[in-house]
Amino acid sequence: MTSNTQEYAISHWPDSEAILADLKKLANDMPLYQIRRDKMEEYLKKFDSMFAGSKKMVEKAKELIPGGVQHNLAFNHPFPLAIGKAEGAYLWDVDGNRFIDFLQAGGPIVLGNNYAPVRGKVMELVMECGPVTGLFHEYEYKLAELIRRHMPSVEMFRMLASGTEACMAAIRAARAFTGKAKVIKMGGAYHGWSDQFVFGMRIPGTANLDAHGIPGECYVHTQEIYPNDLAALEEAMTKNESEGGTAALILEPLGPESGTRPVLRDFNAKARELCDRFGALLIFDEVVTGFRVGLGGAQGYFGVKPDLTVFGKCVAGGYPAAGGVGGRKDVMLSFAAGIGGGLVKRAMVGGTLSANPLSCAAGYYCIKSIEETRAHIKAGRAGDRLTKGLREIFARRHLPFIAFNHGSICHMETGAAMLMEISNPKIFEQVGKRKKIMEELGAAMTVEGIISLAGSRLYTSMADTDEVVDDALERFDRVFADFEVVKE
Ligand SMILES: Cc1ncc(COP(=O)(O)O)c(C=O)c1O
Repeated sequence: MTSNTQEYAISHWPDSEAILADLKKLANDMPLYQIRRDKMEEYLKKFDSMFAGSKKMVEKAKELIPGGVQHNLAFNHPFPLAIGKAEGAYLWDVDGNRFIDFLQAGGPIVLGNNYAPVRGKVMELVMECGPVTGLFHEYEYKLAELIRRHMPSVEMFRMLASGTEACMAAIRAARAFTGKAKVIKMGGAYHGWSDQFVFGMRIPGTANLDAHGIPGECYVHTQEIYPNDLAALEEAMTKNESEGGTAALILEPLGPESGTRPVLRDFNAKARELCDRFGALLIFDEVVTGFRVGLGGAQGYFGVKPDLTVFGKCVAGGYPAAGGVGGRKDVMLSFAAGIGGGLVKRAMVGGTLSANPLSCAAGYYCIKSIEETRAHIKAGRAGDRLTKGLREIFARRHLPFIAFNHGSICHMETGAAMLMEISNPKIFEQVGKRKKIMEELGAAMTVEGIISLAGSRLYTSMADTDEVVDDALERFDRVFADFEVVKE
């Protein structure tokens, strides 16, 4: 397999080394920039009046729902938005304001919001058999077959209900198959919120910093290495040999947090070699990259074959109950289900709503629609245009901010809170300040009609035509018009 820009959303591989050096500088050496205070005040006033309906709703929700919001990707400053409608490139809030949607529900919306042909098929299915029966439905097979056609590493596929579950299941199968316990992940990567993976999240080297409510025994076999550090990976695997061995290395193939710290071009291939040398399984977490980078996933782009692949979100076309694991037949057979289980020692997985006909039909028609429309390529071109435009804005306005993209996954670093180094003695004081700056930026972008993922990630879809992207860039230009250095 070789990468082919005709088939994949990444039209050119960005210079990861240069980006990583620039990101390091931005997060650790550059002065902090914020929106000029008077302009920020104006934005906050507008926010209050434009989004009064959301404010009222969220205030009420706070009495029943912790914090008033249930989505970790939602901005809470000054208060979260309540959305009423989604279509194509846009979202509308309960007050009727329209936004260009670069959050895209955290990644699965490659076709654009509420894509009518997929919705139609889902409606047909629901009319016929409802969302769930607890028994086999033909769409389970059709989805598995379609995934296998595009990703040859997926010899077998088991549908689950979320990316978190799928990561847990993949690790369980790896341990059952290899008989080893240790699992290595990349520092900063998110693989869901299971006990063993709330470890080394967001900033590499933070280990159990976020592991509140999780006993230490749960992540005693989880290890993190610094992104791109092959020497550290080899060292960890070598050390693990005397402690029972490494069951698996789990990676987001573009780098932690969808490539927020991008991988070097040959990292995945080298990681594959190390896994083979140490008898560890290589697991690609393609929860975001699967079908977004290309129908062959990031694994197809890099030409690296993982033993297992984790799917989420997009595998049910953005519809609920979205997760799955696919891979080598010998490993996958440990998931054999049904009363009495399989022929092999089982890696127990389950879920009443897993593999329900609605999710499987939605995933099948979503992937088929991407195939027919080449949505991933169109989304990738929109990402290229958006990133180029953002770079021009930063250069013209003399801002040290950074924009880079892998196709339709675009990164815009300003406050760079997540990019700080754990070795920076000012980290704890700085992360808070930087988060605030990013939250303010998020509020300003919202007033200007743009929704992003935490003010730093922008996903594009097929619905993001040149007109939509150019409109977004004009809005971004207004947001970035008046920045000032934060006085220490
Ligand atoms: C790379 C990655 N893995 C796993 C997950 C967890 O997926 P889910 O939210 O479906 O549990 C996410 C979610 O954002 C993700 O981005």
